[in-house]
Amino acid sequence: MFDQEPLFRVPVKTIDESRQGEALAMPAKVVDPNARTYYIESYGCQMNFSDSEIVASILAEAGFLNTTTYEDADLVLINTCAIRDNAEQRVRGRLQLFNAVKRTKPDMMVGVLGCMAERLKEKLLEEEKIVDLVVGPDAYRDLPRLVDVADSGQKGVNVILSKEETYADISPVRLNSNGISAFISIMRGCDNMCAFCVVPFTRGRERSRDPRSILAEAQALFEGGYREVTLLGQNVDSYLWFGGGAKKDFRQLSPEEQEQSVNFAGLLKLVANVSPLLRVRFSTSHPKDMTDEVLHAMAAHENICNYIHLPVQSGSSAVLERMNRGYDRAWYLQRIQRIREIIPDCGISSDIITGFCGETEDDHQETLSLLEAVQYDMSYMFFYSERPGTQAQRKFEDDVPEEEKKRRLNEVIRLQNHHSLLRNKADVGKTFRVLVEGPSRKSDQELCGRNDQNKMIVFPKADGLKPGDYVEVKVERCTSATLIGKIV
Ligand code: 5AD
Ligand code: SF4
Repeated sequence: MFDQEPLFRVPVKTIDESRQGEALAMPAKVVDPNARTYYIESYGCQMNFSDSEIVASILAEAGFLNTTTYEDADLVLINTCAIRDNAEQRVRGRLQLFNAVKRTKPDMMVGVLGCMAERLKEKLLEEEKIVDLVVGPDAYRDLPRLVDVADSGQKGVNVILSKEETYADISPVRLNSNGISAFISIMRGCDNMCAFCVVPFTRGRERSRDPRSILAEAQALFEGGYREVTLLGQNVDSYLWFGGGAKKDFRQLSPEEQEQSVNFAGLLKLVANVSPLLRVRFSTSHPKDMTDEVLHAMAAHENICNYIHLPVQSGSSAVLERMNRGYDRAWYLQRIQRIREIIPDCGISSDIITGFCGETEDDHQETLSLLEAVQYDMSYMFFYSERPGTQAQRKFEDDVPEEEKKRRLNEVIRLQNHHSLLRNKADVGKTFRVLVEGPSRKSDQELCGRNDQNKMIVFPKADGLKPGDYVEVKVERCTSATLIGKIV
């Protein structure tokens, strides 16, 4: 769950990158000429994009209409990410742009949603005079009231975090959807406290969503023609439902509660049983929590995709310890080995941070050697960006010079690109089942879609084939980003 540093963008399968900041459009419907309009753009992780769909649903219920041009909107919303400093700078740049419009349209209301709103709270109002609304990730139900507050000339602020809110009953409005693939948020927040990460502070405590509402959402999507769902959470492996409330440790549950509880492997099976034609994906897995039970569930269900995003962050046990990741290098490599044993053709990807506090050249070499050992299909790679309030900021010195962080990052990227190409070359000659998503980016004579392992495959169009169909494609050549083939 990520955004990318533009300078160090990796030319491989950037799932979200093309959508960063794009206006999210709702399917057209009958227009009430008196209705107020809203515009929303999203930054950061898939969870943010998923949250914007919840916001769209709440605003639609309150009578707002969606527009894709901010110049026309009565309410301009920006759903923000705080994970790295550059993500916040990007948002500030956008606010400047909205400010220029607001000068000619003083009634336009501007709202900052999401992680940056939660991190900065009222301070954002002082720093960015243009902002009328500051709304944290657990306060979206309050948006219509906050708009009323702002209408009365005050600032509308709600950054209260919740231990229970999962928006379980809200049917997300699918924004800019291809009609084939959708996100389902299965939990919120994070309890892990990785030393570098601001998420536990901006998204609050971890809580799991009622599996019945997840299943109902998956079923409705399938009936609406969708063929792929991605179950989203900061740490899906610690999903646990035992009847509601804040999450407890499984061992603290009574025998009856344990009996009735649903863990992540259980949830995966439930969703997989909606239909064999519905592909099930998930993100993000945590190496310390990923169980063999999940791997066996994947192996047993054809439609649970053989792809795991398993962020390692660093190949050095000393760095992992300082990062408070809860595993060391040997544990991680043992998890990779289990994946390869139980699901031999599994696609694996990672997140890597270079230049974390105290990272030595030797530590960096260990990251490179871990990459060699695993040979990921792809990775999201970042240099460390100190975030205010995190454990790392309080306990450690941010002592690797920026130049050095970037040099190490470049080495990691170069090696990953090499591996991506190798892994793709190994697929040449193989035939994969592809879920057709739509025309390829480059040509309307070509279609594209993903295989089970989440790799994008481009192939020539065929009569009668449409998005949502499954097709067998034989790979003939590749780049480090894409497989290219033809229908067999
Ligand atoms: N600096 C750089 N990268 C970070 N990530 C999280 N926090 C930071 C930070 N402070 C990366 C991690 C995480 C991904 C979503 O973003 O690799 O897995
Ligand atoms: Fe951040 Fe770690 Fe939680 Fe991921 S698991 S959101 S990196 S604290």
